Amino acid sequence: MNRIGVLTSGGDAPGMNAAIRAVVRKANYYNIEVYGIKRGFAGLITSDFIKLDTITVGDIIHRGGTILRTARCEEFKTEEGQIKALRNLEAFGIEGMIVIGGDGSFRGGLALSKKGIPTIGIPCTIDNDIPFTDYSIGFDTALNTVVEAVNKIRDTATSHERTFVIEVMGRHAGHIALYSGLASGAETIIVPEIPFNTDDICNKIISGYERGKLHSIIIVAEGATSGFKLGEIIQNKTGLDTRVIILGHIQRGGMPSAFDRILASQFGGSAVELIKNNEDRKMVGLTNGRLLITDMEKMLTETKPLDMKLFNLANILSF
Ligand code: ADP
Ligand code: F6P
Repeated sequence: MNRIGVLTSGGDAPGMNAAIRAVVRKANYYNIEVYGIKRGFAGLITSDFIKLDTITVGDIIHRGGTILRTARCEEFKTEEGQIKALRNLEAFGIEGMIVIGGDGSFRGGLALSKKGIPTIGIPCTIDNDIPFTDYSIGFDTALNTVVEAVNKIRDTATSHERTFVIEVMGRHAGHIALYSGLASGAETIIVPEIPFNTDDICNKIISGYERGKLHSIIIVAEGATSGFKLGEIIQNKTGLDTRVIILGHIQRGGMPSAFDRILASQFGGSAVELIKNNEDRKMVGLTNGRLLITDMEKMLTETKPLDMKLFNLANILSF
């Protein structure tokens, strides 16, 4: 393996740059050249490649977003798109790929591997919905962004004795909602993995005020229901002064946390080790504090379960 490529794909996440840096520096350490592919799989098709070295990845470990840019590319899902990508990689003499992204990006990585390019995946999505790793890069930073926002909302919620519905991201998963709800002391956490009943939610809010609570914070995962819809239902059923906030893309930006930078450095280093040893279709992960290597195909057939113990604990503590 003399020359590899690296790309970031799907939704960006804080820590993508730290992962790119780790891949490039670890590869260069082994005298392996690295090309960065711009805009995910789209850049593979248009041959938008850029040589990266230890200097070009300097001063990015702390930056949010991705210097390689990212994209969602429908054309790469087609046979023609994948053939174009393969030709471009062959023309550049790129022998292996490291894909930084979420499960969609790993499906792209698998397609690339099936065309003959050994590919390793680095889980990087704020959603933290990748099985076989406790954390994906970006989740910790997004979580802290949500908690910081809820801290601020708490102040005004308390002053006005209001109910706030705060919608967070996560696509089809509730990990951001669960962790941020627990960390911010939300009264109610609504996730797509667990059915909810709006009457129960309203009764809990009312009884909270009756016991002397000064506000009510409800964290809802976007995959469970719309924050606006829920806010309207609560307002109509309880008559309480209710406000809705959609935190949106603020959750994807900002400086990566120390945790995400360390995770990105470990994952990047480990991915290079794998590709150097001619491994293929593997994903790096971290489970119970240890690096874990999983088959990409196996990972793509599983769904990461929500931590039910944590959910039940959050429920008890929110009383
Ligand atoms: P994420 O990686 O964050 O889950 P997406 O689901 O949007 O993001 O996937 C990112 C990109 O990965 C897609 O836009 C596409 O280019 C590629 N991709 C996803 N699924 C496939 C597939 N089945 N075959 C080939 N490429 C795919
Ligand atoms: O996968 C990351 C994520 O931010 C999800 O939480 C969210 O549902 C989605 O991407 C939003 O995508 P877009 O940036 O295309 O609106």
